Amino acid sequence: MNFIDLPQMVSASGSVALPGSKSISNRALLLAALADGETELRALLESDDTARMREALGALGVPMSAAGEGGLRVRGCGGRFPMRRAALFLGNAGTAFRSLTAALAFAGGEYVLKGVARMHERPIGDLVDALRACGTSIAYLEKKGFPPLSIRPATIRPGSVVKIRGNVSSQFLSALLMALPLAGAEVTVEVEGELISKPYVDMTLNLMARFGVVAQRDGWRAFSIPAGARYRSPGVYQVEGDASSASYFLALGAIGADAGCPVRVEGVGKNAIQGDVRFADALAAMGATVEMGENWISAARPAAGRTLSGIHLDCNHMPDAAMTLAVAALFAQGETTLANIASWRVKETDRIAAMAAELRKLNVRVEEGGDFLKIVPPDAAHLLRPAMIKTYDDHRVAMCFSLASFGVPLRVCDPGCVAKTFPDYFDRFAKLTRPAPVIAIDGPTASGKGTVSAQVARALGFHYLDSGALYRLTALAAREAGVDWADEAGVAAIAARLDTVFHAGGVLLNGREAADAIRDEEISSGASKVAALPAVREALLFRQRTFHRAPGLVGDGRDMGSAVFPGARLKVFLTASPAVRAERRTRQLLERGEPAVSSAILADLEARDARDRARTVAPLRQEADALLLDTDDLGIDEAVAKVLGWFSGRC
Ligand code: DC
Repeated sequence: MNFIDLPQMVSASGSVALPGSKSISNRALLLAALADGETELRALLESDDTARMREALGALGVPMSAAGEGGLRVRGCGGRFPMRRAALFLGNAGTAFRSLTAALAFAGGEYVLKGVARMHERPIGDLVDALRACGTSIAYLEKKGFPPLSIRPATIRPGSVVKIRGNVSSQFLSALLMALPLAGAEVTVEVEGELISKPYVDMTLNLMARFGVVAQRDGWRAFSIPAGARYRSPGVYQVEGDASSASYFLALGAIGADAGCPVRVEGVGKNAIQGDVRFADALAAMGATVEMGENWISAARPAAGRTLSGIHLDCNHMPDAAMTLAVAALFAQGETTLANIASWRVKETDRIAAMAAELRKLNVRVEEGGDFLKIVPPDAAHLLRPAMIKTYDDHRVAMCFSLASFGVPLRVCDPGCVAKTFPDYFDRFAKLTRPAPVIAIDGPTASGKGTVSAQVARALGFHYLDSGALYRLTALAAREAGVDWADEAGVAAIAARLDTVFHAGGVLLNGREAADAIRDEEISSGASKVAALPAVREALLFRQRTFHRAPGLVGDGRDMGSAVFPGARLKVFLTASPAVRAERRTRQLLERGEPAVSSAILADLEARDARDRARTVAPLRQEADALLLDTDDLGIDEAVAKVLGWFSGRC
């Protein structure tokens, strides 16, 4: 499976240049293609959604060429696409699908528009009805009211007055408005009911004006485009940074940045035409420290001694950025209610259901309604539970859940879905955040690393992961369930479901104390066998990473530095010669009153070393970046002091 594991983050700071706005990029691409003259589009977003739009315009015969970094030169076709017949595939790009449907309906050619399966579940009937009322010819190819669509040339009725419902998706109105200059006749659009997401319509009108067409309007109720209106290239058009993408970084600042070094986004600011910049106001209302300039916004935690507090917000004006608030709410005192978000149900996925399901996995109480979400976080962030987050092929679900890593380690499944709007999101996220530190201590059996690791953890107040115990518990659980240690799939299934709790001085397996049972020689040998099975290691990977919490972790094992925590702040390879280790182990057993023959112990230990070294997955070895600590002539206290000294040198 494809995933990214995020450890618990402890702080954030720095600045990020935002990718171009998706909404503006796709609108500007279409208007540049429809205009008279050539337009240079600057800072255009490069993502799946804009790629679908560019491919479609290419298939319609619009000439485009690169113009410097992130720029595109578009030769407008003066309202008439060169290709009079085309079949377009628009993936899951809603903005591209809706706006091209409207534009092509007036374009006088024969066109087919298709998308991915989810696109074919997203309603488009309101837009098609309005377009048909103007006299256009559009047919549903599969299910009534949904893509795919077929479009044929038609005669437009001059002076048409078409109605469109305002409370379903503002994208329909935007699509219609952008297409009307192609109608060749005056058409008036009347909005029925309350118009949602008004800022997106404002953005559309603003872009149309930049391309020379000013709509006449009666508030938010009616719009008309005069006959003879034509788009004209503005020459150069600079795309604003994406305000919805900005929301993740601003929330990062509000949760994890000190006021002295906030998180700053570059590319949007006071003069933005995107409604989602209002997200900054919402964060400020929660208590975050927010500042805004012409072309930047910064955010940091509330002033000293204060915390974020939950809010009740009508999110109609910023449906996308509001998803970020749902996760920021985990770090606020009190509950947060996001109201008027019915449009979430028809986005990339049913976002109300998706957010509710995934938040609940984190131990958050959530109430969901037809058009609202209420979030009641646990009393303290450390009560959040690590979880594997499903992302539903929805870029925004993936991006907003990354913020939850400030409370718990988590696994984000299918992180590649962010390519829809922000392909390198997780790289940028990593650059701005600082995870809790890890000290990885690897080495062979009986080298003393368990004792040293536990003492280092205690000295620093860090969490401690005895990863060997997980393999031992797996071997014991398999034995109890009657599963053979060589049965890879069977043991891996046991490892994945392992019901175990570490507590001071011991560990429970299925509710029973198992600290002694897992140290039994036979179980030790079983542990080494099951540890050689790749599927078992895979099944235990995330469980080990859930220990990576603030304020820090000491991980003890064989592959802490190489596989489980490759980004560890300090990696130590702690070892001793086989003879010394055998002698220590013999003494340990005799002290416990157990029989011990040192030659047999040495032979067993060498066999286990050999198996741990020779296995194909995560073999025991000193990593190139690990420091060697040979304890042949070193007592425990000296070894602990050495590790602490190395660590303080890296803080
Ligand atoms: O550290 P230990 O002796 O408790 O480990 C028990 C077994 O698990 C041992 O055979 C090595 C294996 N192990 C592993 O493969 N990877 C780890 N990170 C920790 C232990």
